Amino acid sequence: MLASITVQQFRNILQAELSPAPAINLILGENGSGKTSLLEAIFLLAMGRSFRSRFLKALVNNQHERLTVFARSSDQTPIGLQYDLSSGLQIRLNNAPLKKLSDLALHLPVQFIPANCHQFFELGPKFRRRMVDWGVFHVEHHFNFHWQSYKKSLQQRNAAIKQRKSKIEISLWDKYLVEHGNSITQMRQRYLQRLVEYFKPLFNELCPELTATEFTLRYLQGWNKESEFAQYLADNLERDLALGYTRSGAHAADWSLRVDGADPYEMLSRGQQKLFFLALSMAQIQLLADTKQLTNSILMIDDLSSELDWQHQQTVISTLRTLPVQSFISTTNDELKSLLSSENEKLFHVKHGEISAELS
Ligand SMILES: Nc1ncnc2c1ncn2[C@@H]1O[C@H](COP(=O)(O)OP(=O)(O)O)[C@@H](O)[C@H]1O
Ligand SMILES: [Mg+2]
Repeated sequence: MLASITVQQFRNILQAELSPAPAINLILGENGSGKTSLLEAIFLLAMGRSFRSRFLKALVNNQHERLTVFARSSDQTPIGLQYDLSSGLQIRLNNAPLKKLSDLALHLPVQFIPANCHQFFELGPKFRRRMVDWGVFHVEHHFNFHWQSYKKSLQQRNAAIKQRKSKIEISLWDKYLVEHGNSITQMRQRYLQRLVEYFKPLFNELCPELTATEFTLRYLQGWNKESEFAQYLADNLERDLALGYTRSGAHAADWSLRVDGADPYEMLSRGQQKLFFLALSMAQIQLLADTKQLTNSILMIDDLSSELDWQHQQTVISTLRTLPVQSFISTTNDELKSLLSSENEKLFHVKHGEISAELS
C-alpha cells in the first residue's frame, strides 16, 4: 500500500504529489490529461518497466532529461526511482540501491488492468503467462529461482543451436530445462486450480447474469501432453535446429478458462470479458491475502468506464471494497465520484498533467 507518491517529469506530469487513500482512489480527468501516465509511474516504481513503452526514454517528459518517481509505503519504507537519459535507471529501496528487480515486486505487488483487458483471451499467450506467473511468484517461494534458472538454460541452449554446436553439446542443457520446466509447470497448474476457485464467486458477483455458467481450466504446458519433456526435447532436436531456437517448453505454455466449453471471447460480450479479467485479478488479490497474508496489494484499473455500463461500474467499486487492496481507478466519467464514500476513499482530478485531490 502506498501512503505518498511524488512524480516528476514523467510524460506530461511535471510535478505531482499525492497521498492516496488506503482503499479506493478515483483518478478523474479528460482524455490526454495524464491519468494513464500516473498509473504508469506507479507501475514503473513497482516493476521497473512500463506497460506501454519498451524503452524508458519515452516516459521522460520531452522538455527534460530525467524522470523521478518516489513513494513511501504505509510502513514508511521509501522507494525511489530515477531514469536519466544519459545515466539510465536507478532504483533505491529503503535507502539502498536495489539488488534485484524481484525485491521490488515482492515489496509492491501491483496488478495493472489496461483499458483493453477484454482482449485478454485473444491476445498472445505471453499476456496470460505473465498474469499467472505474477501470482505464482508471490505464492511459491521457489518459483523465481526455477524461472530464472530455466531462462538461463534456455538462452544457453538457443545459443548452442545458433552456433551450430554438436547435438551432444546442445542436449547438455536439456536436463536443466526439464528439471526447472517441470517445477514451473507444477507450480503454475497448482496455482491456477486454486485461482479458479477464487475466481468463480467473484465473477458471479460482478456478472450475476451468468451465474449458471460452467468454467473449466485448460492448461497447455508448452509441449505435447503425451510426452515427457525430456523425450520431447530429444525427439524434436532436428526441428529446433531447423528453426534456430527451442520452440517447446515451459516458456511456451498457455492457459484458458473455458466458459461452457467455449473460449471466453466467443461466448462473452466485451463488457463481460472485461469483468472476467477483473474477477481474475481480484481472485489473485484474495488468494494472496489468504495464503501469504499479503494484504498490501495494489490494483490499478485504467479507464474503468470503457465497455462497462453504469450498474457494472458500481458493482466493481462495491466488490473492491470487500477486498484487501488499495486501488487506483482512472475514468473520464464524472458521475463515478458520486459512488465514493468519504472514509478510506479519495478523488483526484487530473488536468494537463496537474493532479489535485478533491477535499471532501
Ligand atoms: N514523454 C512525454 N513528454 C510530454 N508529454 C507526453 C509524453 N508522453 C506522452 N505525453 C502526453 O501526455 C498526455 C497524457 O497522456 P495519458 O496519460 O495517456 O492521458 P490519459 O490517460 O489521461 O488519457 C498526452 O497528451 C500525451 O501526448
Ligand atoms: Mg488513458
